[in-house]
Amino acid sequence: MPNPLEGRTVALGVSGSIACYRAPYLASKLVQHGARVDVVMTEAAAKFVTPLAFGSITHRPVVTDIFDPQTEMGIDHVAIAERSDVVVVAPATAHAMARIAHGLADDALTTTVLATRAPVVVCPAMDGHMYDNPATQENAATLRSRGITVAGPATGRLASGMYGPGRMLEPAEIIDHVRAVLGRDGDLAGRKVVATAGGTRELIDPVRFISNRSSGKMGHAAAEAARDRGASAVLVTASTTLPDPVGVSVVRVESAIDMRDAVMRECEDAEVLVMAAAVADWRPAEPSERKLKKGSAKTSSLELARTPDVVAGVRTKGLIKVGFAAETDDVERNARAKIQQKGLHFIAANDVTAAGSGFGADSNRVVLIDREGRAERLDMLSKYEVAHRILDKVLSYWDC
Ligand code: C5P
Repeated sequence: MPNPLEGRTVALGVSGSIACYRAPYLASKLVQHGARVDVVMTEAAAKFVTPLAFGSITHRPVVTDIFDPQTEMGIDHVAIAERSDVVVVAPATAHAMARIAHGLADDALTTTVLATRAPVVVCPAMDGHMYDNPATQENAATLRSRGITVAGPATGRLASGMYGPGRMLEPAEIIDHVRAVLGRDGDLAGRKVVATAGGTRELIDPVRFISNRSSGKMGHAAAEAARDRGASAVLVTASTTLPDPVGVSVVRVESAIDMRDAVMRECEDAEVLVMAAAVADWRPAEPSERKLKKGSAKTSSLELARTPDVVAGVRTKGLIKVGFAAETDDVERNARAKIQQKGLHFIAANDVTAAGSGFGADSNRVVLIDREGRAERLDMLSKYEVAHRILDKVLSYWDC
């Protein structure tokens, strides 16, 4: 199940905020993820963006009027409420949130939300003072207490020119919330999955460190894929460039020792560890507390000490351990040796010199090799899809 949005029906409720200008883009992204999108607009929203804009993107009728004669054709708000797998209100104005919180059904949007049994995601967008107002805060709390996901708002520049909370989340973040909600009852529901990511940094002195080229994308994708299958996903990440994934509990670490401590702690009650981090094998034996001066010497040397092997040290009973082997030569032979050394169930081996695969890329070509010596050679896939294939294999350990 690589993409929870594929073939699903999303009702996109659009209310009248200036953030409406980003809603057609959100609709377009949902369509690109394979969803059928039914747009339900308020009268105010139709003043900002035309129904035609949405219809041109979704290729489906757009509902704006509760008394629309198209009701006869079964595309009214109640039909939409019933056939949707998820209802997303984006942007949700303070007024729309208030009406939803109070169970009003005075237009097509609020009627859809009231009539649906599908999960609802509300994405607030409003002026900062309106968002901070206790009335809005109470309405948001009411929505949450009823199981509605309130996604955002982000803090940033608002249409008024002020800075504060009230910006609608970026479409990519909204889609992550929707994926997490759709995957809630997935095949990893009730399981805790810990993924690690990024290259650790081993300090030489307060301004210098030893690290490697890992971007963290593979480990972040593993946490996101686990989340999208209903797992309680924890990401222990040393990445310095990637944002925290939505709906994942994130532990930021720097060194191999920090990573070991966090992984040990998180794995105490976990069922799966996907160790995609590139943990440094060596660290400066005695990092300096002050910046080292280069002086006039032509050469210099640094004494290194071995770091702990994180994955080898985790011994939680029943934990499925998946390792990664980023290799440049003899990829499969080197990877096989690591399965035994580190007590892994299986390993994802990849040739980091192959085009489009490895460090920094969005795609990866890996071979999954297990303890029994079986090798599954995957095609070049996105890292998110690779993560799903890894999780598929994890599930096979519980089936037998
Ligand atoms: O660096 P190496 O090729 O040995 O890494 C193989 C696997 O072991 C990876 O999953 C990596 O995250 C893990 N590892 C570790 N602790 C280390 C080195 C590597 O857990 N100190």
